[in-house]
Amino acid sequence: MSETAKKPLALVTGGSRGIGKAISKKLAADGFHVLVNFASSEEKARQVVEEITATGGSAELCGFNVASSTAVDEAIERVTKAHGAPLAVLVNNAGITIDGLLMRLKDEDLDKTLDVDLKGAIYCTRAATRGMMRARAGSIIQISSVIGEMGNAGQSAYSAAKAGLIGFTKSVAKELGSRGVRANVITPGFIATEMTQDLTEAQKEGMLRNIPLGFVAEPEDVANFVAFLASSASRYITGQVIGVNGGLYI
Ligand SMILES: NC(=O)c1ccc[n+]([C@@H]2O[C@H](COP(=O)([O-])OP(=O)(O)OC[C@H]3O[C@@H](n4cnc5c(N)ncnc54)[C@H](OP(=O)(O)O)[C@@H]3O)[C@@H](O)[C@H]2O)c1
Repeated sequence: MSETAKKPLALVTGGSRGIGKAISKKLAADGFHVLVNFASSEEKARQVVEEITATGGSAELCGFNVASSTAVDEAIERVTKAHGAPLAVLVNNAGITIDGLLMRLKDEDLDKTLDVDLKGAIYCTRAATRGMMRARAGSIIQISSVIGEMGNAGQSAYSAAKAGLIGFTKSVAKELGSRGVRANVITPGFIATEMTQDLTEAQKEGMLRNIPLGFVAEPEDVANFVAFLASSASRYITGQVIGVNGGLYI
């Protein structure tokens, strides 16, 4: 058996950039074999894998579009078969936001947002839990958003998707707790990534005024909490929604 086969498997959707990249690196440093998912940023995902392996960790590319249930089922079936083990950890991090006022919300933008942010996480969870249930172990971690808890003008579709993830996860926690599978939600606040880099200075200052801790977080702040939920140190925690938001929503 190879070294990587002995390590528990962790799939990080959207592992190519931002928060997903930090999560991939942290889980690899904690001893997981990380499946770094991407949809279009293959080169960036490859760099994440190279950074991990260069520092003694283990990882591989795992490209698929989370919004395609067929692609999700095929990919998870393929990797778990190849490694002869179920996923130990699934991090549903892939996400997009298409901002705009409700009156101008196009059907196609609503569909895209729900397809990736909500249905994508549901497809991946459904596919991952088949093996987790048989193993009677597994940790599913959803990366939702503080916007799913508090709402935000101009982000109605995104907040609907991210709030949906919370109800979904609570149901999964109730359904699968007796099979040893845990499911929790992290709701990040304002994290410095490509998703937030296009905000104007005025928007950033407005956000900062409402953050009691007074600073923008780094992707690693989210990754550290993912690592805790992925580990047995959190073995009695399921169905919870944990804000990593500097106090933005209390
Ligand atoms: N940044 C924040 O302040 C913040 C706050 C709260 C919540 N979040 C949430 O945290 C998560 C990560 O955000 P981020 O800021 O790191 O975003 P980001 O830098 O824009 O990265 C998004 C990631 O999602 C992947 N992705 C998008 N569509 C996909 C698809 N259909 N299938 C597979 N992967 C897909 C992207 O991969 P490709 O490039 O390959 O498409 C990329 O790796 C998101 O769910 C976001 O909603 C972020």
